[in-house]
Amino acid sequence: MKKELVLTACMFFLLSSALFSQNKYIGAAKCKMCHNAEAKGKQYTKWTESQHSKAFKTLQGEAAKKIAKEKGVANPTTDAKCVKCHSTALAINASLNGGITKEEGVSCESCHGPGSAYKSPTIMKNLAERKKNGLIVPDEALCKTCHNSTSPTFKSFDFKTQSAKVAHPGPKK
Ligand code: HEC
Ligand code: HEC
Ligand code: HEC
Ligand code: HEC
Repeated sequence: MKKELVLTACMFFLLSSALFSQNKYIGAAKCKMCHNAEAKGKQYTKWTESQHSKAFKTLQGEAAKKIAKEKGVANPTTDAKCVKCHSTALAINASLNGGITKEEGVSCESCHGPGSAYKSPTIMKNLAERKKNGLIVPDEALCKTCHNSTSPTFKSFDFKTQSAKVAHPGPKK
């Protein structure tokens, strides 16, 4: 009886620490602080100029309303059938929102992973540490979680040409 109680307590502890250690989505404004210098590649500005940062706005437009109607979706700006690919903030469980807004559209953290644990300077400066804390260097497979035939407007996706369009390299590349 006592043993079982201890076991249950242990399980609860493990489970809750697993839940609490989930990284949160902090939003592009936080990344901007360190990733918008001219000499380092202005990643934030490049993203604001890309379609990804406008993906939520797209859902408010006429084209989206037409597609939504065809798909039987009443409101494309709230329905999971659309927001799961057009807004990082609305695609995630609300409990993981650490400051990201829906208007950011497809934000940094959809591609690089939630930033609450890796955002600190000491972790960021160390390749092994940032990986351990959830920073993702995205590949073709990650793009294809959204760029695929379940997107109502999908035609094709060529990784090489499409990555060139949204590239935001640092000084070394
Ligand atoms: C406190 C400053 C700081 C913040 C905040 C920050 N970074 Fe960084 N980041 C760095 C530094 C420093 C590096 C190391 C490379 C360099 O010197 O540019 C880096 C590297 C990276 C890399 C390259 C990883 C690699 O292995 O090639 C990515 C991607 C990245 N950051 C994304 C982000 C994202 C996304 C956010 C917001 C969620 C963010 N960073 C927030 C400072 C920061
Ligand atoms: C979370 C979903 C998601 C991920 C992941 C994603 N995209 Fe996108 N992407 C979109 C959406 C949504 C649009 C349309 C935005 C709009 O026009 O409103 C888009 C648009 C684009 C466009 C502009 C449209 C065009 O054909 O000119 C390019 C280029 C692009 N993505 C490249 C990429 C690449 C490369 C990757 C992987 C490194 C990637 N995307 C990952 C959702 C995503
Ligand atoms: C599987 C991910 C995904 C889903 C789900 C999705 N989209 Fe998209 N959407 C994209 C991507 C990626 C693009 C960029 C163009 C392309 O490759 O389809 C895009 C582009 C668009 C565009 C711009 C098209 C253009 O050519 O200018 C509109 C409008 C749009 N989506 C509306 C919607 C609506 C409305 C829904 C919900 C019914 C929806 N999308 C669901 C991924 C998705
Ligand atoms: C559509 C997916 C996508 C989005 C959105 C995105 N990135 Fe990236 N990012 C990439 C890819 C792909 C690379 C190149 C990875 C490689 O080197 O193979 C990259 C590389 C980087 C690098 C490393 C640059 C270098 O060469 O040293 C930094 C820093 C970075 N991103 C920051 C950001 C920040 C900050 C944002 C948001 C303001 C952002 N990214 C948004 C896909 C994305």
